[in-house]
Amino acid sequence: MQNPDQIIFAAEKHMTLLLMNDSSGHDLWHIKRVVGLSHLINKEERGDPFIVALGAWLHDIADHKFHRGDETAGPKAAEKWMQSIGVDEKIIVEVSQIVKEISFKGAGVSTPMSTREGQIVQDADRLDAIGAIGIARTFAYGGFKGHAICDPDIEAEMHESFDTYKKGKAPVINHFHEKLLLLKNRMNTKTAKRLALKRHAFMLDYLEQFDNEWNESLST
Ligand code: ADP
Ligand code: NI
Repeated sequence: MQNPDQIIFAAEKHMTLLLMNDSSGHDLWHIKRVVGLSHLINKEERGDPFIVALGAWLHDIADHKFHRGDETAGPKAAEKWMQSIGVDEKIIVEVSQIVKEISFKGAGVSTPMSTREGQIVQDADRLDAIGAIGIARTFAYGGFKGHAICDPDIEAEMHESFDTYKKGKAPVINHFHEKLLLLKNRMNTKTAKRLALKRHAFMLDYLEQFDNEWNESLST
């Protein structure tokens, strides 16, 4: 199958079946938003629209978090699926590389993308991790994993390696400091940097209100 529209249609179908029952914040609507945001960013950033769209559709095809920490699960699954429908080898290499490199790996770990298209999809994925939607996803993920909402006795950690980040069981509020609030300055493209500002500001307001309510409840 070499027709780009047909490949995208097949990717949509495949991801729909795969993520239909997800409740960890990595559900089908997350993928659709990342596809939409990638398209929006790409209007200004001008990467190859087909690679951007296919990378966005497949980026969470087999996330390490749901495959016993195996970082190779994603690119392998992407490669295998694209081969199964006869995608051109050059495209398979480019898209699998996006899937391989996209993930956040800890506050102190850099995550460079090798291609412009990869930078665009990574930015879109990270925009969906911040703002009102990012907040909702973070609490959904914390509940899914059985983490506490907040525990002031546990300090946020600036993970120096992907391994320590992966093992984290910190309360959800800590995740704001360990990841979400850092994303604004880690966007690759000018367009995403601009889009991140309002989402970032909203998270700061949210955290301030959270703190106020927390202190009000526990101050006597
Ligand atoms: P990426 O999309 O860069 O791979 P992840 O898949 O690790 O990032 O995270 C996506 C979203 O899942 C986060 O933005 C957050 O909403 C949620 N999440 C991941 N890890 C945690 C965690 N330890 N605590 C709370 N939420 C988390
Ligand atoms: Ni994602």
